[in-house]
Amino acid sequence: MKINKVVFPVGGLGKRFFPITRTIPKEMLGIIDKPLIHYAFEEAVAAGIEEFIFVTRRGKDSIEDYFDYMLTNSEYFHIKTGSVCYVRQSEPLGLGHAVLCAKNLIGNEPFAVVSADDLIVHEKSCIGEMIKHYNGSNMVASINVASAEVSKYGILDVAHETDKFLIAKSVDEKPSPKSAKSTHAIVGRYILSNKIFDVLGNLEPGIGGEIQLTDALLKMIPSCGLTGFKFEGKRFDCGSREGLLAAILHVANQSEALSCIIKNFYKGEI
Ligand code: UTP
Repeated sequence: MKINKVVFPVGGLGKRFFPITRTIPKEMLGIIDKPLIHYAFEEAVAAGIEEFIFVTRRGKDSIEDYFDYMLTNSEYFHIKTGSVCYVRQSEPLGLGHAVLCAKNLIGNEPFAVVSADDLIVHEKSCIGEMIKHYNGSNMVASINVASAEVSKYGILDVAHETDKFLIAKSVDEKPSPKSAKSTHAIVGRYILSNKIFDVLGNLEPGIGGEIQLTDALLKMIPSCGLTGFKFEGKRFDCGSREGLLAAILHVANQSEALSCIIKNFYKGEI
């Protein structure tokens, strides 16, 4: 099935990066010379997506400025005029709320969501691979995490597992290691039925007082199903300082000029 639209939720506060994210959006933090949101956009373009919706908010104008430049003056992206649009999230009420803000721009079709703070590095576009395997159920990208880490993620309770897929019977946002049903965690790539907007619109705030996308996915399991996609590639949690640093080192290490700097650092020359 063709998925033509992607939502980039970029309305979060990025508290884990205070103070820099007081004035610079987390999604504009750099992996050497490109901001995180550049990689997310690139992944969506490589997936054949043609309409790009940013859910943005106060203080995030540099994202719009960046794409104004990228779409008109650079050799990076060649996409149709008018295919990028911005909708505001007036308050950071959670990822589920951010997705709900895109409702009027989606219409009657399934759509993709790509979170820029999950950087996934692979020759194949992760969201592109998910689109290829999309089967009509809500789909999330999934990785196996250490048991001590489950409380940072939405965790799938898996009824059936194959090489590529996890068929979930339930999902729980940020469970404790004791109560978690598995270590299969959701990371920031989704293909969602447009029916999710009705569910999100009627959802009470969940954990952290936020409208949680995971809670909507849970409510939709009986009608729509929920599939975890075991993607290929390296994923970096660039919403954390450790993950951002690891991503920068990984990308630098791919470049001859920059990997020398890393080697020199370990030799004690820097
Ligand atoms: P996170 O929960 O990781 O981001 O959301 P955050 O809230 O910005 O980060 P911390 O916890 O305060 O450090 C994942 C994605 O969802 C977006 C974020 O911008 C990020 O891309 N998001 C989150 C929104 O768009 N709106 C929100 O209200 C919350």
